[in-house]
Amino acid sequence: MSSPNTDDIDAVSNQKKLGKHLYTDLADLYKTPLYVYDGDQIQRNFKAFQKAVSKLNSKVYFAVKANSSVAILSLLKSVGAGADIVSGGELQRALVANIKANDIIFSGVGKTDEELLLAMKHSIGQINVESGAELERISELAFANNLKCSVALRINVDVDPGSHEKISTGQKSTKFGIGLNEGQAEDYYQKIISHPNLNPAGLAVHIGSQLTRLEPFEIAYKVLLNFSNYLRGKGFDVPCLDLGGGFGIDYKTNTNPDFSEYGKMVSSLFQNQGYKLGFEPGRSIVANSGSLITKVIYVKNGINKRFIIVDAGMNDLIRPTLYEAYHRIDNLQERGDHRELSDIVGPICETGDYLAKDRMMPPVEAGDYLAVRGVGAYGAVMMSNYNTRPEASEVICYEGEIHLIRPRRTVEQLIKMDVNPFE
Ligand code: LLP
Repeated sequence: MSSPNTDDIDAVSNQKKLGKHLYTDLADLYKTPLYVYDGDQIQRNFKAFQKAVSKLNSKVYFAVKANSSVAILSLLKSVGAGADIVSGGELQRALVANIKANDIIFSGVGKTDEELLLAMKHSIGQINVESGAELERISELAFANNLKCSVALRINVDVDPGSHEKISTGQKSTKFGIGLNEGQAEDYYQKIISHPNLNPAGLAVHIGSQLTRLEPFEIAYKVLLNFSNYLRGKGFDVPCLDLGGGFGIDYKTNTNPDFSEYGKMVSSLFQNQGYKLGFEPGRSIVANSGSLITKVIYVKNGINKRFIIVDAGMNDLIRPTLYEAYHRIDNLQERGDHRELSDIVGPICETGDYLAKDRMMPPVEAGDYLAVRGVGAYGAVMMSNYNTRPEASEVICYEGEIHLIRPRRTVEQLIKMDVNPFE
């Protein structure tokens, strides 16, 4: 899954402009830190994925957790996306973006009664169940409230996806999915079939995120297919297989994998098997569309390296410190080529507050704008207000026009949420 789409080649260079707009002008106007997205790129990514699986009876559900901006959901909806959600909050966002309830899948190990009821009342397409206890609860809630619900079982196929351990979900040591040993999954499927309020939707699998090889997907899908064919052999109705997300991007070049290779692998396994297939890509749809623009506050010549101190911190982008994630960082000003060993760090008072470590960076001066690339997925959605820092604002460029899609809150607004009983 390594060959880049030719569409994306531009993204490899130090891109200074988005359409006709200079990133530096946007930073002047909207202030930093600032997330800037390319809406056309998001739609291109989605269409490329859709095309790769179009020969199959399939539907692509964007994993909302990767970027839950209503504007972005709305752009994706307009090119045919459903939504894969993991909370009641994400359900409400998907509905606000006019995604049809029937095109929504609810995943996650800890859905509460309130969230389940909300999903059932909206008759969403499918709830992926992750445990016997959850199945029990759904059955009770559906029965007590006289609601119908389509339920799939998420299977734990015990496959190592070869990704960072914090975003690997396929092994049996993780909290995800239902194991195939001891006939548990079969038992639960039988319960779904025989419950008056539940409809069997099929099976689901998702083994992790930022996968860079096809092989783990293929192994997982074979296990899933064997099991679903086994259930069918017993006379059970298994209409859909949800194959999850997880496609990694190349963060060095900000290019997506060649989805068509993946599509071919999936076709070779599932063509003519009579299943409707679901896909839940998140990162590969939005990651390479986003840059985080940050301003250099100081350049500090440290004891053995240079520290480039910027106004974006780990509260604005937590991926480097949480997952040792690499994001390409460009200086948007031209200051020559001489590179120097540098850490790019935020203003937050802890050593883990960095965007890049030991990076060879070109000359940089205070006041310069840097672009942190590949942050369209799991960037803005993971922001916090640590150190009472308002989150970065977000803008999108679509068909040549810039739109503000989330203004920065003020410090006053943040403090207003506090209640002081001791005044
Ligand atoms: N489906 C399910 C059930 C998931 O749990 C996930 C991601 C996806 C789909 C989408 O996977 P994607 O195509 O985006 O890899 N915060 C981490 C990533 C966490 C992914 C969690 N699950 C990061 O910044 O790398």
